[in-house]
Amino acid sequence: TWAQFEYKPSEPPFVPYYIPFIGSMIQFGIHPINFIRENQKKYGNFFTFLMFGRKMTVCVDIDGNDFDAYNSLTKPVFGADVVYDVPNAVLMEQKRMVKAGLSIENFRSYIPIFIEETNQYVDKHWTKEEDTVDILKAISEMIIMTASHTLLGPEIRSKLYEGVADLYHTLDGCFTPIHFLFEWLPLPSYYASDKAHDELDGIFGKVIKERRANPDVKHTDMLDVLMNAKYKNGKEMTDKQVGNMLIALLMAGQHTSAATTTWFADKARAEMENMLGAKLVGKDIPEPSYDQVKDFSVLDNVVRETLRIRSPLVQIMRKVIKPVAIPNTDYVIPAGNYLVASTAISALDEKYYKNAEDWVPSRWEQDDEAEGAADKATTDYGFGATTTSARSPNLPFGAGRHRCIGEQFAYLQIKTILYVLLSRFEFSLDPKRGMPERNYQSMVMLPEGPVLTHYKRRHD
Ligand code: HEM
Repeated sequence: TWAQFEYKPSEPPFVPYYIPFIGSMIQFGIHPINFIRENQKKYGNFFTFLMFGRKMTVCVDIDGNDFDAYNSLTKPVFGADVVYDVPNAVLMEQKRMVKAGLSIENFRSYIPIFIEETNQYVDKHWTKEEDTVDILKAISEMIIMTASHTLLGPEIRSKLYEGVADLYHTLDGCFTPIHFLFEWLPLPSYYASDKAHDELDGIFGKVIKERRANPDVKHTDMLDVLMNAKYKNGKEMTDKQVGNMLIALLMAGQHTSAATTTWFADKARAEMENMLGAKLVGKDIPEPSYDQVKDFSVLDNVVRETLRIRSPLVQIMRKVIKPVAIPNTDYVIPAGNYLVASTAISALDEKYYKNAEDWVPSRWEQDDEAEGAADKATTDYGFGATTTSARSPNLPFGAGRHRCIGEQFAYLQIKTILYVLLSRFEFSLDPKRGMPERNYQSMVMLPEGPVLTHYKRRHD
């Protein structure tokens, strides 16, 4: 067939398929983790399969995770002039600017906002003594409110109810593998997303203008940082770049953080009460400091373990634009192939984690007995993460140049939201359904919704 025709002997082994063009798309689409695992057993950590006429080269396990094929390109999902739509060197500068907005000083000012937004949401929507709600939907809204307020600022946050949230959803609709593989298809969603970008540009542009007109008013959000940031050549970002960068940040953090938070269970309250020296019941609870949130170690381990077994980015795809040799092998991945990295494979490998499929937050406890302890020490995913060993089996935030810069923000946001929720409510999953299945439909793996969860107000 067509793909075999193009297949070169120097390429990693090719997974056989029966349906031309479609290739292994169905098996991969239904359960990418199982598909990759089965083929990993047969072919090793590097192999290629056909999907929609495209050759997808999978790179997994520690050697695959570490393999930095960054002479590659991804489609601009986030709009013009930012992230994937600029040369790599510019992206590195943009990431540096964003990092300045994720400083400890800014984080300190974000904690009361996370608390206020979470309280506001539950006061508005969870009004009964007890009830059953779709926790995935609820958490998704809490994440968008908290992230918009802290990153985009109060002005844009206040417009969320006036249609801005719908514009985000429109952009989000392009966040699927189809859009990634077929940049040239005239999909209606592209026109809708162009229009949404134009409208958001208008809204953001107005806020930026107002801020520039009132330079004495101080702000501690990402918008402020990006408006004042400079490239090495002394130039500022254009207003459009500022706007698109903020959209990119919101999109990058939305499903990833919402998915992670939804898979939680409540284990951490005793430790938090102990640390804060207060009974955590209801709304009248102390505001923890940045350091205290950082030290909520049970919650930290809950988030870390959740990210290990339910890593939201199961597959990271890139387009290879120049042939790349895979180190320590004879393989060369030709230009035109797509590269599929999946750190979820090593994170769920029995070779690295005992009972790897089980959710055991205590495996990250910092004592010599706990199997994750050493790994945690070298990778340090939580707060203050500055160095990451790219050779860890557990890399939910990626590695290399494109590595996540939102990790600390995500931990802070998720832990603070959980702090409020666990203080105010007891939660239980619908016993008939149990833990939700994984939903692989979008680029970010979500729990299969609705995730029906029972809340009950706490009184003691
Ligand atoms: C990149 C995961 C939250 C902003 C990444 C990558 C991963 C990841 C795996 C690497 C992608 C690649 O190699 O192509 C996560 C997870 C999150 C999370 C699991 C939450 C639990 C956030 C948040 C923000 C954010 C909250 C923004 C505040 C970014 C940015 C990049 C990135 C800007 C860099 C893209 C690039 O350089 O190409 N994230 N992320 N992420 N993430 Fe996150």
